[in-house]
Amino acid sequence: MVEMETIVSLAKRRGFIFQSSEIYGGTGSCWDYGPLGVELKRNIKHLWWRDTVHFRHDMVGLDASILMHSMVWKASGHVDHFTDPMVDCRECKRRFRADKLDEQPWLHYCPATKGNKFVVPAGEPCKHCNVKRTLCPECGKGELTEPRQFNLMFKTFMGPVEEDAALTYLRPETAQGIFVNFDNVLQAMRKKLPFGIAQIGKAFRNEITPGNFIFRTREFEQMEIEYFVNPNDSVDGKPADEYWHDRWIEERFNWYIQYGLRKENLRIREHEKDELAHYAKRCVDIEYKFPMGWSELEGIANRTDFDLKQHAKFSGKSLTYFDEERKSHVVPFVIEPSAGADRSLLAFLIDAYHEEEVRGEKRVVLRFHPEIAPVKIAVLPLLKKRDDIVAKAWEIRDELARHWVSVYDDTAAIGRLYRRQDEVGTPYCVTVDVQTVGDLAKAEVGDQKVTIRDRDSMDQIRVPISELVTVFSRLLGGSPWTQLSSKYPAQAKTS
Ligand code: GAP
Repeated sequence: MVEMETIVSLAKRRGFIFQSSEIYGGTGSCWDYGPLGVELKRNIKHLWWRDTVHFRHDMVGLDASILMHSMVWKASGHVDHFTDPMVDCRECKRRFRADKLDEQPWLHYCPATKGNKFVVPAGEPCKHCNVKRTLCPECGKGELTEPRQFNLMFKTFMGPVEEDAALTYLRPETAQGIFVNFDNVLQAMRKKLPFGIAQIGKAFRNEITPGNFIFRTREFEQMEIEYFVNPNDSVDGKPADEYWHDRWIEERFNWYIQYGLRKENLRIREHEKDELAHYAKRCVDIEYKFPMGWSELEGIANRTDFDLKQHAKFSGKSLTYFDEERKSHVVPFVIEPSAGADRSLLAFLIDAYHEEEVRGEKRVVLRFHPEIAPVKIAVLPLLKKRDDIVAKAWEIRDELARHWVSVYDDTAAIGRLYRRQDEVGTPYCVTVDVQTVGDLAKAEVGDQKVTIRDRDSMDQIRVPISELVTVFSRLLGGSPWTQLSSKYPAQAKTS
């Protein structure tokens, strides 16, 4: 498994992800997506939206505002319960989540070795004095305060006066925007149960212990579905909410595999009864094997009718569905598949990362699924000093760019250019050479053919320029390389 440092370094070097406000020393756990990162994230969000909204007949989309009425957060329980227990070091003043303290290595001045300083592995006692951690894990000296509850919502004020009446919050999840719009969507779209509302958007949490790169940050994007079902219905002999919960777990698990995550790096974790929120009937996490261990990628909860009932109670508005068959109003149950766009991106990046040896040299390649890859095609001139080759390469790039994200690069020799595209996961390179354009000085005409190189096999084929769009439509549309490559003459591998 690749180390997180390797991913962080590649992400910065190749323009995927930068530390926010880096020139000022950086902002705690906020990250900026660079030219390739923004394409990668857009692809993930686009595929999620296309597959969950456009391809389905039982889903619609929504884009609610980040700032909402402060009562939303009272009704949802976030004002009172969206808290983490927190302790402070009396010495270095650092702040920690009380429940996560023993999940990090700790600094220890060991009395059994005349006060020598050791870093002891997480959760273990010191092997010299056998003492367990009681002091601050970072400075090793300070006593810790008693745990206090710390609300994770960012506060802000609406309007010019910073007073309690103007207080509101940056949303800590996109879900509540969906619940408060339930009736609007129901009336406007005339949907019948079961149906779902999907939303992608920013969420903010003042996490006490953010970290592991973009895994846990204070500003992140969620991709959430609230799927409303009639609790009085049953499907395949099961209550409808239980049936749809199972269906969504399967759908979402397979979605990650469909776009390239390896099955052995994914697992389902059932929440224990004592882990469940009081209103949740059942919850599972889809976990990914990140470099720091198995961790949540997406949560899929059966939230029952809790949210709609709470908002009905606090707003005084009815949030029900009229069940034609039973001639009665019902409060739907909701199944909530809630994914993080940033966390998914991290998983796709880690899973795609491969190192291999090619002719005695290390090749780093991101084996992204073509639909996930930030750049689909790179067009490379073999000789950048030949104006006719450069002009033809640009012409091809411009034509391909009308269909797919395509780039031109002539900043190094061809072998180096291929390696650079491998390292950012570009599935195909097109090379324009002397044979393509011919040589006027020698009265040679070009064959108007180019070389296409496949990232994964590094195989190359010679294809007429006029057929490029058709060939890439098939390759990027899912046809395997071997199916296409057998139709065209193979070229000797250049690297
Ligand atoms: N509406 C339910 C909800 O928000 P959650 O488990 O707190 O549930 C859902 O969050 C998903 O959002 C997580 O599985 C994760 O992918 C992402 N997420 C949550 N907190 C995050 C953070 N601080 N940084 C990055 N992603 C986060």
